Amino acid sequence: MGEKVKLEFGGKPSEYPVLSGTVGPDVIDIRKLYGATGAFTYDPGFTSTASCQSALTYIDGDAGVLLHRGYPIDQLAERSSFMEVAYLLLNGELPAKANLEAFSRTITRHTMVHEQLASFYAGFRRDAHPMAIMCGVVGALSAFYPDSTDINDPKQRMISAHRLIAKMPTIAAMAYKYSIGQPFLYPRNDLSYTGNFLRMTFGVPAEEYEIDPVVEAAMDKIFILHADHEQNASTSTVRLAGSSGANPFACIAAGIACLWGPAHGGANEAALNMLREIGTPDRIPEYIARAKNKDDPFRLMGFGHRVYKNYDPRATVLAKAATEVLDKLGISDPVLDTARELERIALTDPYFIDKKLYPNVDFYSGVILSAIGFPTTMFTVLFALARTVGWVSQWIEMISDPEQKIGRPRQLYMGPAQRDYIDLANR
Ligand code: SDX
Repeated sequence: MGEKVKLEFGGKPSEYPVLSGTVGPDVIDIRKLYGATGAFTYDPGFTSTASCQSALTYIDGDAGVLLHRGYPIDQLAERSSFMEVAYLLLNGELPAKANLEAFSRTITRHTMVHEQLASFYAGFRRDAHPMAIMCGVVGALSAFYPDSTDINDPKQRMISAHRLIAKMPTIAAMAYKYSIGQPFLYPRNDLSYTGNFLRMTFGVPAEEYEIDPVVEAAMDKIFILHADHEQNASTSTVRLAGSSGANPFACIAAGIACLWGPAHGGANEAALNMLREIGTPDRIPEYIARAKNKDDPFRLMGFGHRVYKNYDPRATVLAKAATEVLDKLGISDPVLDTARELERIALTDPYFIDKKLYPNVDFYSGVILSAIGFPTTMFTVLFALARTVGWVSQWIEMISDPEQKIGRPRQLYMGPAQRDYIDLANR
């Protein structure tokens, strides 16, 4: 029989089972707590709450470790491909060659979007933020693909997962093309997932687009690093939306909306804008002081993390890749020097040391994306493109979990006690 936790509340004893995972903190199963005590737990921001069981991703925040189905992110980033990681997250094991080829072929054949979807873009202003377009267009997908929205049919769940993974690059590239007034390019089945995306984004109908292998490899690595990350805010949003039985396209649109926030996926755009605003290293102390000032809402974007109290392993990979990619592309961007100097100063400052604030995935990614040619407004779109693999994998895991039920948190009510209505004439 497993360990139990005893609680004395309102003079009454109760006890709760302790559950253990493969690795990581145990959990206290409090599902019966309200029934036994009449009290709720209180945990704004879910800092001490596990919302589900999952076998997809594990983070050891103190050690700075990130595993996808047990494989360390640095090994996947250096030796795998985004399609391989997508297969791994969806299916639980690294694919053999034949499986990977079949999976890639399936994804490739879903990269086109319904021709009428293109007219959605015309409804947006050209200067609309691409994330606004992504929220709208992805949310509309269920209107175009109703044949894969029965969430109780495992086949339809997988088809909608494949459609979402395959169509996100096409939709993202179209959002970029629309913003710069260039025509959309159709996907091509002879290109890799990432090569296809780069051509749809930077190619033009007037000439052949040559895919730079350095850029393709860097982009693929960035996609791998953004694929999944336990129960972060946007993944929790996808799960909560999915728990009501909403169709997968609507759930992913909800995840995109949540990811857009500057405290979450929007931080990559905010981090590069911040680094550009700082400009030269001599202005770093001014911004460090602002980040430490309680009366100033400014935060160092790309720094800090709810789980990592050590270096985000993705930031380690990206910091190295930033130097490599800019060198190979022959680009020197003073922002990279500013980023490195900001990191050096911050990591020697007691405020950041005491609060265990380190660079996270969003601190260096923008330097590489900017070198590749993306405007900052596309950075979170790229994060959403990659995180779609994690979102659909988590959604499938949740729907298939016999323990799952509609998510419906309670509250600590602080409003007025019951009182009677007063007619207008008497107020
Ligand atoms: C992502 O959850 C995930 O896994 C997310 C993600 C994923 O892959 O899905 O990893 C992607 O969202 C990365 C995080 C991107 N966001 C940013 O870079 C924005 C800047 N960072 C912060 O806003 C903050 O660090 C959060 C939101 C990331 C985490 O916030 P927490 O866990 O709620 O921590 P907190 O706000 O309570 O901060 C703890 C203390 C506070 O000081 P005190 O009130 O205790 O005195 O640290 C301070 C904060 O003021 N602090 C910062 C800071 N981050 C936290 N101070 C200055 N600059 C910062 N960046």
